[in-house]
Amino acid sequence: MYHEIDLDKIDRNAEPPTEEPARQYYFMAKCRDWVKGFEQKNHRLPCASVVNMGCQMNARDSEKLSGILSDIGYEQTEDGNADFVICNTCTVRENANNRVYGRLGSLHGCKKKNPRMKIALCGCMMQEKTVVDKIKSSYRFVDLIFGTHNIYMFAELLYRCLTSDSMIVDVLEGTDRIVEELPARRRYSFKSGVNIMFGCNNFCSYCIVPYVRGRERSRKPEDIVKEIESLVADGVCEVMLLGQNVNSYGKNLKSPVTFSDLLRMINKIDGLKRIRFMTSHPKDLSDELILAMKECDKVCRHLHLPLQSGSSGILSAMNRHYDKEQYLALVKKLREAIPDIAITTDIIVGFPGETREDFMETLDVVRQVEYDSAFTFIYSKRTGTAAASMENQCDPAEVNERFDMLLKEVQAISMRRAEARTGTVGEVLVEEVNAKDSSLVTGRLSENAVVHFPGNADMIGKIYPVRLTECRGFYYLGELVQGADCNPDFSEKIFSENACK
Ligand code: 5AD
Ligand code: SF4
Repeated sequence: MYHEIDLDKIDRNAEPPTEEPARQYYFMAKCRDWVKGFEQKNHRLPCASVVNMGCQMNARDSEKLSGILSDIGYEQTEDGNADFVICNTCTVRENANNRVYGRLGSLHGCKKKNPRMKIALCGCMMQEKTVVDKIKSSYRFVDLIFGTHNIYMFAELLYRCLTSDSMIVDVLEGTDRIVEELPARRRYSFKSGVNIMFGCNNFCSYCIVPYVRGRERSRKPEDIVKEIESLVADGVCEVMLLGQNVNSYGKNLKSPVTFSDLLRMINKIDGLKRIRFMTSHPKDLSDELILAMKECDKVCRHLHLPLQSGSSGILSAMNRHYDKEQYLALVKKLREAIPDIAITTDIIVGFPGETREDFMETLDVVRQVEYDSAFTFIYSKRTGTAAASMENQCDPAEVNERFDMLLKEVQAISMRRAEARTGTVGEVLVEEVNAKDSSLVTGRLSENAVVHFPGNADMIGKIYPVRLTECRGFYYLGELVQGADCNPDFSEKIFSENACK
């Protein structure tokens, strides 16, 4: 684990160490000297902005970038006028790429006003050669580019960038390394993402992730447990276990461990209150895992189970390895084991060859499962994936119409499900004071729904029993259950008797 290594004690005149993470600490020390020089010259510390443009894995990576920047002395700012701006990019859909080019346009304007500004790009989009070529030729003002496989080398790359005037590009094709024990700066004091594995082996035919994140690599369970224990010692009570396909966790370890074994190990950690995870692939959701979810009291009553399509033909073309009936049977099994579980999903509309009938199959699954919420996407062609070369791409007007229909259905269902819980009591982990009304705090139920209720900043990071008095579509208004306001642990006693668990 990362133990506040004293950067000032590192010999910066020695040759850089070859082993990791010692090498990165050496470069952090070198960067810190650079920061001190900046401070002397400018009578202020330099400031940095980390812009996360991707999924929860990216968000966790961004916390690691922030941790390094803050340890070497940068002040953090949200501002586009920072001295150092790094965009952690996503490339899962074309509009993610477009957002990056848009952001680069506005950063160029900032750099014209402040020519010393350094601009860095990292993350999934940088693993694509065509993207890097485009940036090299049309966005010459970018200073540093690196990818997903060498993000652990950020301190070293930053040092090279700070001490050079030319664009630095360092993108690796792949890696089998997992470098840990580097600092991270968490966005929330009480909850944290924890990477349990990297990469994906599934090659769903529409998806670019396996190409930009590489093959599956699982972290050792003892390292994960150690990290969570130290997070808990630092005030964390909720963890989100992160991986592209957590259900296949551990298969490539020297002594294989299943994801359910891992859940049971983490469930035993004293002081930890909630465990979440994402993402689960339906093809790997075993009975053993359902049982572990049911038996582990800290595992939240929420499962994100991407459907992608309800048509068995399309699922086969997507290379998903399950069909409509198998997916529905899985949901039935889950609900039988854990009746109050909230189920959410991802759905793609307009995959090549999708007919109206295929789409109606998707609507049928949505109606049968009654998702608590769903992320809906229009299929986006990703160069290099198997689906990109399929000839039967759908008519965009038809796809838009289907998308609107799906969205309406999904929203109506999730509203109905939310309304049905009104009046019950739920356990809420308070996350923040409400941005619009400071007499309220905002938190999440185990089932992941958002609740606003009267409270104050002292309640942040604690769990309270809250009556859900009013459903406002996608969130609830609530009130603290009497007697629980000064003793958050009281909530656990109430909840052992509550129907919500
Ligand atoms: N087009 C549209 N949606 C996609 N997703 C992944 N790749 C694509 C694509 N090419 C969606 C899937 C996945 C979610 C993270 O993004 O639904 O579950
Ligand atoms: Fe992409 Fe499929 Fe892997 Fe998820 S499981 S990251 S959708 S290839």
